[in-house]
Amino acid sequence: MKIDIVTLFPGFFTDPLSTSILGRAVTDGHVEIAVHDLRQYAMDRHGTVDDAPFGGGRGMLLKPEPVAACWDALQLSRGHSIYLSADGDRLNQALATRLSMHEHLVLLCGHYKGVDERARTRCIDQDVSIGDYVLTGGEPAALVLIDAVVRLIPGVLGDFSSAMADSFHDDGLLDCPWYTRPARFEGQDVPQELLSGDHGRIDAWRRRQSLRRTFERRPDLLPGADLDDEERRLIDVWERTGAPDTD
Ligand code: ADE
Repeated sequence: MKIDIVTLFPGFFTDPLSTSILGRAVTDGHVEIAVHDLRQYAMDRHGTVDDAPFGGGRGMLLKPEPVAACWDALQLSRGHSIYLSADGDRLNQALATRLSMHEHLVLLCGHYKGVDERARTRCIDQDVSIGDYVLTGGEPAALVLIDAVVRLIPGVLGDFSSAMADSFHDDGLLDCPWYTRPARFEGQDVPQELLSGDHGRIDAWRRRQSLRRTFERRPDLLPGADLDDEERRLIDVWERTGAPDTD
């Protein structure tokens, strides 16, 4: 397996990836792990990689250009690309098992408030969360994911049956999903709401996007969520008709 890690803090990975079972998996050639500094793909000499979101608001986003430039230069679209994010698909044993069947994984570690939607659409196949809490960045999550996945590669634990026999084993090994993603970026429109300058409209749009994402990815969180009547009504409609792709 090949794993590319794209991060603003490459030094974070030095010791964990050369220690213990992970270190041996690398030296034994079961996995090849490359760590890339996203700042090297910045478009200006200051190494700027973050930007204020369209429509304003607090927090910064990872700019789309350095992410896209990095993906192009390293041909990362060939792999299955994961953005580590607290609102992603929850990492569990079944997901680790499915991920271990990919030949090539690419992990993008975010800081700030996330990644610009255009880069996400063009470069990212899947968001993964390691749990319902917010970390300072995606790096610790990437390490957890790598550890959970690499130990499942035949030969890494010395005896494949020890990975097969562990308590979380499930039938995930039997299916091998392929994620598809639309390869759009050029000409991809920024939603009109974000360009409107109308903060009420912008906030409403953002809240709806976040609701839709939770509805699709973590519906189990919705019953306990603090939602108003209109939001409950929207969920009612989506439950009957399916959530729209975007709006
Ligand atoms: N980035 C911030 N929090 C995270 C989490 N819980 N899982 C994955 N990436 C994250």
